[in-house]
Amino acid sequence: MDFPITRLRRLRRTETLRRMVRETRLHPDHLIQPYFVIPGKDEKKPISSMPGVFQLSIDHLVKEAQLSAEAGVPGVILFGIPSKKDKEGSAAWSADGIVQRATKALKDKVPGVAVIADVCFCEYTDHGHCGVLVDGQVDNDETLENLGKQAISLAEAGVDIVAPSGMMDGMVGAIREALDENGHEQLPIMSYAVKFASAFYGPFREAAESTPAFGDRKGYQMDPANAREAMREAALDASEGADILMVKPALAYLDVLSELRETFEHPVAAYNVSGEMAMIEAAAKNGWIDRERAILETLTSIRRAGADMILTYWATEVARWLNK
Ligand code: PBG
Repeated sequence: MDFPITRLRRLRRTETLRRMVRETRLHPDHLIQPYFVIPGKDEKKPISSMPGVFQLSIDHLVKEAQLSAEAGVPGVILFGIPSKKDKEGSAAWSADGIVQRATKALKDKVPGVAVIADVCFCEYTDHGHCGVLVDGQVDNDETLENLGKQAISLAEAGVDIVAPSGMMDGMVGAIREALDENGHEQLPIMSYAVKFASAFYGPFREAAESTPAFGDRKGYQMDPANAREAMREAALDASEGADILMVKPALAYLDVLSELRETFEHPVAAYNVSGEMAMIEAAAKNGWIDRERAILETLTSIRRAGADMILTYWATEVARWLNK
């Protein structure tokens, strides 16, 4: 049926009609709040490139996570900045490591919140790469062994989900095996299955103090040009037992996210990364865009492309808006 019988504007006439035909919804349940945890007490250090985001000591983390849970956000993801770094990143699997301690505090004080822990070494190595270096390259298979140790240690601390983000081949299988052998067969793995070597991680590296000391991550993270390879990455992680598949970053990769949604039955997550946040914050600060509308439009686009869950630095704030 063509115009003038068909008039698509009829259902756009009032906000009530628009509400009734809205296809995509954003709910606090869809959001995950990332936090950066540092050693010490009463520390709350702003990150200049991420307005409103702080490096938090555990006492502050607990307070923030309480507010986040009150707003209805179901999960938090933790990134730890250890007091000591070494060439292997061994602080990552220490029983009293920063994320392990933060997890125990959260499980104790905010029991309802799902604690997700990033499983990677870039914050823990003195060279800032995501694994063990052999001849100046991140060695895949040696790194796998350490990933297993880190995952077990986080499981013992009580995390609800582990999220490997280092883009090592076989990382999901290695972590699954290590967890199962140690009685953690119920712990889910949220794999950063499709993670691109992106310029949009810039601000995060300031926040997590994880900039590589030399070179870049292009030898393990994906080439932004490749969508077919992204499906192979996701298929490999699915076959190794990933419970949730993530695409990262979100905005420049909505096509990949949408294809992943079509291809797999797994829950799909998308990471609205630091650089995506920084762009909107900077433009809003200059008065160039409406901050609240731009944020909601951004998160809605990620949902529309197929994400069941969105990791976003705006999670708590947006959950409050949605509860209004
Ligand atoms: C690696 C990791 C990174 C991010 C999450 N986990 C950074 C990287 O690969 O350099 C980026 C998140 C963001 O930019 O918000 N552990």
